[in-house]
Amino acid sequence: MSEQAGGGSEQARKTAEGLEYLTGFGNEHSSEAVPGALPLGRNSPQRAPLGLYAEQLSGSAFTEPRTHNRRSWLYRIRPSAAHPPFTRIDNGGLRSAPFTEGAPDPNRLRWNPLPDPAPGTDFLAGLWTLGGNGDATQRAGMAIHLYAADTSMTDRVFSDSDGELLIVPERGGLLLRTEFGLLAARPGDVALIPRGVRFRVELLDADARGYVCENYGQPFELPNLGPIGANGLAAARDFQAPVAAYEDSERPTQVVNKFCGNLWSATYDHSPLDVVAWHGSHVPYVYDLHRFNVLGSISFDHPDPSIFTVLTSPSDTPGLAGVDFVVFAPRWLVGEDTFRPPYFHRNVMSEYMGLIEGAYDAKAEGFVPGGGSLHNMMSAHGPDRETFDRASAAELKPQKIDDGLAFMFETRWPITATAQAAGAEHLQRGYDDVWQGLERHFRA
Ligand SMILES: [Fe+2]
Repeated sequence: MSEQAGGGSEQARKTAEGLEYLTGFGNEHSSEAVPGALPLGRNSPQRAPLGLYAEQLSGSAFTEPRTHNRRSWLYRIRPSAAHPPFTRIDNGGLRSAPFTEGAPDPNRLRWNPLPDPAPGTDFLAGLWTLGGNGDATQRAGMAIHLYAADTSMTDRVFSDSDGELLIVPERGGLLLRTEFGLLAARPGDVALIPRGVRFRVELLDADARGYVCENYGQPFELPNLGPIGANGLAAARDFQAPVAAYEDSERPTQVVNKFCGNLWSATYDHSPLDVVAWHGSHVPYVYDLHRFNVLGSISFDHPDPSIFTVLTSPSDTPGLAGVDFVVFAPRWLVGEDTFRPPYFHRNVMSEYMGLIEGAYDAKAEGFVPGGGSLHNMMSAHGPDRETFDRASAAELKPQKIDDGLAFMFETRWPITATAQAAGAEHLQRGYDDVWQGLERHFRA
């Protein structure tokens, strides 16, 4: 436990420095914090080692194909079942699908960063939903949340029954204490907490801000590479899972569970982060976006931005994602006779973009770290006037884009904004203006 006087503790920072990880995406990992805690050769012996309880956590149906099957076995001091009733608590800024507060809006929308949090706001209290689609009870769709926090979570943990959480820090590092062990995620990293996994967020810096994609659908996986071949984009070996670490604490701990859109709370008489050993495939992980192998054209044009897909949540239709997580990382542009920024575009998929650092090459200004833009199904978007004019006249020598890290949550269904997002003070008025003044150049 860390002392909490606002911001991150020295203890959390030291802990984050020394973390060890298991590596590989989708592996059957195993880990034990105490030698001999993990049973060998079976999952549920008559008496688990060291007096631990065996518990399976299923992230997929038992019978799903091996490629999609996710489950882990946890060996813990007390079973998760030992808890009092859950009762409803206030949802704060969290909203959930179906999103019905307002009409889906075809307009292009852009937001500035969230305002600073009220003093004493932790990660969970600081979650604020921008919008989303689908239906959490149908395990389909996604939600976009932002967070702003200045305090570590103390004596409480969170778990999300509705989906997995892809956390994208933009400001301030996070120490994620999970049932499986500890992860550190700093700006430039992404962290994934699988559905149902309990975790606590401690801050590594004075405050923390970022984005969360809550994926109600199929768990994120690495995209197929097709003709790209066996290598490229995000490498499986760069994904890092925790090693087992447990809390043996009798302090009362609030467990907050997001279930079908609402928050429920129960106070355990111990820390539920008491897993001494585990094995399986339903595990949290972190990934450093700077390790993404960016591929692109070495002749002309640039590929569609799907070439930048880090993770994809597939649907029953091949190639059609519930949601893709896409990164625009530092890269060289060398295309001959090519308009190099992202092209003008209308897309059946809906695009939410955020910025982790620097600038984005299609927007000269107004799209700032911590902010975001929403280009919904078939809405027309692309470079702003200033970018278009500059890129159309640029000398086409090799050009390094090295000062930005932007990302996109791209989803098959339109995104409906929440009432709080549609009416937010930090919603930019006049975003349409960036496409005004694109001059007529046609000469017949
Ligand atoms: Fe687009």
